[in-house]
Amino acid sequence: MKIDRGIEGRGTLRPDMAKDIWIGNVQSGMHDGAQVELKGWVKRTRGSNRIRFIVLRDSTGTIQCVAKKEELGDENFEQAASALIEASLIVKGTVNVDERAPGGHELVVSSVEVVGAVREDAPFPITESAMSAADGGETEFLLDNRHLYLRTGRMTTMLQIRSSVFGAIHSYFRDLDFVEYQAPCFVAGAVEGGSTLFEVPYFGRKVYLTQSWQLYAEAAMPALERLYTVAPSFRAEKSRTRRHLTEFWHAEMEIAWAGNNDVMAHGEGVVRHICKTLLEEREEELLSIDRDLDLIARYADNPYPRIRYDEAVETLQAMNVDIEWGQDLDYSKEKVLTADFDVPHFLTHYPKMAKPFYHRVDPDDEKYVLCHDLLAPEGYGEIIGGGERTWSEKEILQRIDEEGTPREPYQFYIDTRTYGGVPHGGFGLGVDRVCSWLSGADHIREVIPFPRDSRRVTP
Ligand code: 4AD
Ligand code: MG
Repeated sequence: MKIDRGIEGRGTLRPDMAKDIWIGNVQSGMHDGAQVELKGWVKRTRGSNRIRFIVLRDSTGTIQCVAKKEELGDENFEQAASALIEASLIVKGTVNVDERAPGGHELVVSSVEVVGAVREDAPFPITESAMSAADGGETEFLLDNRHLYLRTGRMTTMLQIRSSVFGAIHSYFRDLDFVEYQAPCFVAGAVEGGSTLFEVPYFGRKVYLTQSWQLYAEAAMPALERLYTVAPSFRAEKSRTRRHLTEFWHAEMEIAWAGNNDVMAHGEGVVRHICKTLLEEREEELLSIDRDLDLIARYADNPYPRIRYDEAVETLQAMNVDIEWGQDLDYSKEKVLTADFDVPHFLTHYPKMAKPFYHRVDPDDEKYVLCHDLLAPEGYGEIIGGGERTWSEKEILQRIDEEGTPREPYQFYIDTRTYGGVPHGGFGLGVDRVCSWLSGADHIREVIPFPRDSRRVTP
């Protein structure tokens, strides 16, 4: 893939330091035999007092640079030799095609300029042995040094995949004429239950960090009819698991004149579009972390079956899993259920008692609500929660009272029904969970730059 990051013709300012040669392009053969100036960081360095082999990396790839004393002269060779791991450099030289070099090219160096040195008494702490001990980025040491760990190959790859996932979500909704819409982060009431609310002191009062954009989106539903967002949501999750963060990225949508099946069609649509986009944009990156592309293609190309909660409970009971009808399915159950799934599955029609007040009661059977969770295969579990909303004023008041929830913080929400309520619905997709699943990560922390959980808010 050709990297085109030129800024010529894209602005009136003349750049001072613009970089126009990318290591990825050198490795793909665009500069064979040419004299180039490469800008990047030292990934590895070794050699003798006559010759240095510096592996230079930038955001697009790596290349071995060969610096010989007889070419550089004594003084410049000293500079080259003094550059430690993660020093930033400008290296000039000639691109040589060499089958034996990693990537098929190497740079025969004519000069080296150290731009930002790394001191000998403070070497870069993320060593190869620290990383292999970590096996996937789990150790406290790597989390403490997250700001430096971001530069390593695996983390860079995760961030590139993540960027494509975000891009795919925006393009899916924008291509279908959804309007991007923002809700406040400071809120007065819960959406997803009080146990995971973060309290914030607010000028002598208590307010909360939002758990979901949904209620504020429903207020704008009569104005925009189709709306979406990608924004952080907050949950005071005390337990630390492989799939919970206290601050996570939430892609949510809301659509007027729609029922549970319409909403599910968009949930399936956006997830399949994400998979398709990853195959188009990130094939190389996925292969570099040993992800099986056939799996991603299968998730992109096949419809997602829909099964009812009752059927899932029966399946689990037949597998001797301890579950009673009426319980929400926690991760231990989802894991068992999804281990044998070949594509994501929707679970629909949960018992009313397992879900918050905003879910619409099924008019055909009052024990259930018209909702859905989308469960990802390979044991990853829930990535989407959504459904049809309780949309008549009478029903919403009844559900709020039944739950024992105070009406006052939700008055704005009730008003949405008082003035021209219509059937509508929506969902929330955990973007970090999707990144974790599609990259095959062991832990959700691996796919977000600075993960937040109950124990960690630094760096
Ligand atoms: O199922 P949830 O709680 O649903 C809602 O918040 C609805 N109000 C969304 C809506 O209908 N607009 O959360 C939606 C999704 C989950 O399926 C999960 O993927 C993700 O958000 N999620 C988390 N991701 C990471 N860490 C956490 N602590 C998460 N909690 C939920
Ligand atoms: Mg949920």
